[in-house]
Amino acid sequence: MTRISLNNEWWFADEWTDALADMHPGSVGAAEPETAHLQAVRLPHTMRATPAGSFPEQDTQGVAGYLRTLRVPRDWDGATVRLVLDGAAHHATVWCNGQAIGDHACGYTAGVFDLTSALRPGDDNVIAVRLDSRASLDQPPFGGVVDYMTFGGLYRDAWIEVLPALHLGEPHVRADGAGRLEVDVPVVGTVREQLRLRATLRDARGAVLVEHEVDVMIGPGDLDPGRTGAGDLDPGNPAAGSLSTGDHGIARLSTTVANVPLWSPASPTLHELSLTLIAGDEPVHERTAHERTVHERTVRVGFRTVEFDGRGLRINGEPTVLRGLNRHQSWPYLGDAVPARGQRLDAEILHGELGCTVVRTSHYPQSHHFIDRCDELGLLVITEIPGWQHIGGADWKSRAVQNTRDMVRQWRHHPSIIAWGVRINESADDAELYAATNAVAHELDPTRPTTGVRNFAKSELREDVYAFNDFSHTGANGGALRPARVTPDTTRGYLVSEHTGHMFPTKSHDDEAHRLDHALRHARVTSDALHQGAGGVLGWSMFDYQTQRDFGSGDRICHHGVLDMFRNPKLAAATYASQADPAVVGHVLVPSSTMEFGDHAGSARGSVVVFTNADEVRLYRGDAYVGAFAPSADYAGLAHPPVVIDDLIGEQLVRDEGLSPRRSRAITRVLLDVARFGLTALPPSTKATLAWLIASRQLTMAQGAAYFDRYLGSWGGRAVPWRFEAVTDGQTVASVTRAPAQRLVLQALPDTTTLVEGDTWDLASIRLRLVDEHGTPQHYARRSAVLELTGDAALVGPAHVPFVGGSAGTYVRTTGRPGSATLRVRTDGADDVVLHFTIDDHRSGTVAVAEPKEHA
Ligand code: GAL
Repeated sequence: MTRISLNNEWWFADEWTDALADMHPGSVGAAEPETAHLQAVRLPHTMRATPAGSFPEQDTQGVAGYLRTLRVPRDWDGATVRLVLDGAAHHATVWCNGQAIGDHACGYTAGVFDLTSALRPGDDNVIAVRLDSRASLDQPPFGGVVDYMTFGGLYRDAWIEVLPALHLGEPHVRADGAGRLEVDVPVVGTVREQLRLRATLRDARGAVLVEHEVDVMIGPGDLDPGRTGAGDLDPGNPAAGSLSTGDHGIARLSTTVANVPLWSPASPTLHELSLTLIAGDEPVHERTAHERTVHERTVRVGFRTVEFDGRGLRINGEPTVLRGLNRHQSWPYLGDAVPARGQRLDAEILHGELGCTVVRTSHYPQSHHFIDRCDELGLLVITEIPGWQHIGGADWKSRAVQNTRDMVRQWRHHPSIIAWGVRINESADDAELYAATNAVAHELDPTRPTTGVRNFAKSELREDVYAFNDFSHTGANGGALRPARVTPDTTRGYLVSEHTGHMFPTKSHDDEAHRLDHALRHARVTSDALHQGAGGVLGWSMFDYQTQRDFGSGDRICHHGVLDMFRNPKLAAATYASQADPAVVGHVLVPSSTMEFGDHAGSARGSVVVFTNADEVRLYRGDAYVGAFAPSADYAGLAHPPVVIDDLIGEQLVRDEGLSPRRSRAITRVLLDVARFGLTALPPSTKATLAWLIASRQLTMAQGAAYFDRYLGSWGGRAVPWRFEAVTDGQTVASVTRAPAQRLVLQALPDTTTLVEGDTWDLASIRLRLVDEHGTPQHYARRSAVLELTGDAALVGPAHVPFVGGSAGTYVRTTGRPGSATLRVRTDGADDVVLHFTIDDHRSGTVAVAEPKEHA
């Protein structure tokens, strides 16, 4: 098969007019009345560029047009030619040379359009797409309210598939943990001779592990159009034309690969499977010079078995804890339209920075670039059909069933996907609809469980896994409901699919106590849910996202992320990172406090919590050792519970002031409670201890104040520096100093400085942060970043960006030219940061995407 990228050279009309459906090749992009206003664009493309927040949802909606000419060589005559729009938000109607081809009514699955009958080989052809992104569409997720922006645009890749008259359809490959390999692949076209199917399995280095051949039996028994369609990435829409003419059937192949390295989260081994359709009269296994390759397809496969029941998830028989986050697919300025590198970066952040083992692609299937990276990293994925609470009428429902079909067919080759979400997120029970979606998913993929996300208990359970959005935690109660209170069948799998989110919106610039509460709520729910036997728990959400008028904080943003919109961490990010092994995320050591008490009422700093994946934390005041602190015993479900430091004095009064242990204990307690509650709000028992200390002349108020200044730092005292050390196996593995900031340091952290002009534009994500000389985030620094870009690239978004909570971000995109570019980032009072980018030229016919930098 030839796959030709079609990302470049589109012409965009902000408003569709019917004349655009029937333009001549010469008029596209020319100075003619209907086309003079068209803008040259490349995919991924967002219909309307937007600010980072504070814009109405109508700004992202409309009916736009995309036009493109396509030079078709003569030798395509007889071939099947299909246009694939991988993401067309939300309702695409396609014409080719003025002939209506068909439509696709889902913004989150690929639309496939058979252009064959309309094409003129040897000529320039015109493809026109009318794209409707209005919320008035009668299709998921529209009809009710939706808590996220439904950005319009051709926002994923587009390509042309040129298939020979006789060809292989989209294969369905099943590769399990016992090394069994089963392939069903449609054979489409008119069969005139003996055909064979050869499967060649190669490892990552290209070494052949197995080669297996079967005769393709196309007899009456195999002529089953339903099954053929089921195996194919087809238009699913009669208007788009039937995929195949003449005879077609399914070729089936099954073999066992001895000792094949399996795919697992810890060792995500991927293989390449080539399927070759061979014509020739020779019998199977006798490779001869007469054989002729008719068609070949290649898929990436991972061998693994997924089981998910009341005991939890097992991959290849190994119990696997699901701990992760929900992800939307939006960015500042770009809407959902971000090319491969940005998609891959999100998977790297989830895995390598947040230590997640699972992500839910709420509330729709997401970019294959993102899921490809999950496949490579071993990050497990739960994906689901589009929708948000609302279920529409009969047409709407049949689209939801079609979406299920498309989702399973188009995403089932990804080994990282462990379950299909076949209910509209948080919708009511609907026996008929969910019987249908479950049946479709089970039929098209018997190897994976189905699930479906509810926001109520004891719902009708047709899925293999009950998924529940558990928002019961208030900060003061248990973290999660017990599974038996929620699911009607505890023998089946159980999952907390969301928590926290709107229960505790948190901004990077909220005060320290709020940010700590946010982090601890994520810890509490994760711990309790897992401890009570949930098979997994996923927080809401990975990052802050733009939303619609019915949600958000007045700025159309749900501040629900453990990251901000630019993917900078809030404190709660450390809750996740600290659960993972240092081999995955490095040594995590994040104290909750800057140790400045000015962020707290009455200067009462309260307990300091340290998020770490080390064995213990040692604390020093300056160079004086305070004590060692172990992970809290209060989080039984966590691999690495937070370390709660509620004694910043430790042994110092005995060691350095010569007090007796008893007197030291009493004075320490008073001092710590003053730090926690303030002098005027001491608990009665502490008040009594203080009174006794003074009456017995063991302490004067002046002495107490001096101790407080020296050991805790106070209003009117001199601030003291603190050092936290993470200790594992007796060794210090990380160290963090918190002291009054002397210097502002600007950080500009790019995901890459090598961009690639390939089949489309490329994007570098640059996270901007203000820290002090010790790396402590400067949450309240009133600054903006001034961005100056020169050279062969362009800035995305404004050239001045405010730091919010000490964080900001920007993006640099390629413009079609290879070369180089320089970004200078400036902010008052800190040294400039200068980043040099190179833009490599990979503009061939083949997909060329450079490996992004690792984010360990
Ligand atoms: C859930 C919903 C999510 C998001 C979240 C906020 O009800 O499924 O999409 O709105 O609440 O906490």
